[in-house]
Amino acid sequence: MLEGRRILLILSGGIAAYKSLDLIRRLRERGASVRGVMTEAAQHFVTPLSVAALSEEAVYTDLFSLKDESEMGHIRLSREADLIVVAPASADIIARMAAGMANDLATTTLLATDKPVLIAPTMNLQMWAHAATQANVALLDKRGILRVGPGSGDLACGEVGSGRMAEPLEIVAVIESFFHRSTQLKGRRAIVTSGPTHEPIDPVRFIANRSSGKQGHAIAAALARMGAETILVSGPTVEPDPAGVRVIRIETARDMLAACEASLPADIAVCAAAVADWRVETPPQQKLKKEGSGAPPALKLVENPDILATLSGAGNRRPRLVVGFAAETEKIVEHAKAKRARKGCDWILANDVSPATGTFGGDSNTIHLVDGTGVEDWPALSKSDVAARLAQRIASYFDAVKAAE
Ligand code: CTP
Repeated sequence: MLEGRRILLILSGGIAAYKSLDLIRRLRERGASVRGVMTEAAQHFVTPLSVAALSEEAVYTDLFSLKDESEMGHIRLSREADLIVVAPASADIIARMAAGMANDLATTTLLATDKPVLIAPTMNLQMWAHAATQANVALLDKRGILRVGPGSGDLACGEVGSGRMAEPLEIVAVIESFFHRSTQLKGRRAIVTSGPTHEPIDPVRFIANRSSGKQGHAIAAALARMGAETILVSGPTVEPDPAGVRVIRIETARDMLAACEASLPADIAVCAAAVADWRVETPPQQKLKKEGSGAPPALKLVENPDILATLSGAGNRRPRLVVGFAAETEKIVEHAKAKRARKGCDWILANDVSPATGTFGGDSNTIHLVDGTGVEDWPALSKSDVAARLAQRIASYFDAVKAAE
């Protein structure tokens, strides 16, 4: 599956470096070659000898080593790879990458490369949550650096929370989907909705919700990485435009529907937007004035169009695969099944947002995929991992469609 792929694996300092030894094995089992670069700190956790023995390649550690530079050199090191994987990616190396530093072999290689880079962050939960780390990660995301994890669970420091490095097989899955990106959904066209909608009350006020657009944007990015021609119809968000995606920005539910319908025909529609259910029937042309108005204005609300239901019922223009989301707090699967039937879509990703899951306000999602045959329970995953898994699932669906044709 990874036959002939060349991975440059950069290990930075973190206890999760032991998992990277297993990652080397998993990658090589699949036919990839792995060459290791280790930071000084990484060598306190695992030895270059272990990395060399498992990779059956020389391991590079020193920017100023005459031997390493004459044999390979950091420029060649950074170019002779199809993908650079930083695992574990510590808070420190993430900060140095964000700042564009080149103060050791690992960061010099990362700065000199013209190849795609995937990071697997790991650190203590407070370090992960720190505004500096979050800003650094957001910057790397924006630069198109791929990321897997971190997940949540028991951390080596004894605390429990977000900061665990993704498991080797999860990293392998992301690497595989990366290499298959340009083929698996090539020739397919996808529409993704994302973010909230803003419904005007008057020219300066609006009704909105707290949707960030993170999940929808991540899905659009994941579909595009797999080669789908992807159109993202997004309400107002601060999320950066995903690489390789055509973004149509709208404000209201009606504009979102119009943009989706204008983007048909499509093979895939994923409705991840938190569309406002109601809008003000006739917003006045002028700003509502408090002065002299007496009582607060009564807003007459009318129902917005349902985009998911409209696309699902679009007759011969209906996308072959229509996917919706359902945020539920109780009877999750039962409600999701009913929602799937009501809206007429193919799959519903039911998201358990009950307080016990920590989904609300957190960065992981617990999904139950409901389709016509049953329910698939996914583990708690980050929003980007949910996106990668969904894109993979969609690709498998179309592989089966092709095989049946
Ligand atoms: N959706 C949509 N257009 C709407 C409302 C919802 O496309 N006007 C889509 C959402 O993007 C999501 C799915 O429908 O994929 C379910 O949204 P949700 O808010 O959970 O469902 P509702 O229809 O609002 O049902 P309820 O509030 O009763 O749970």
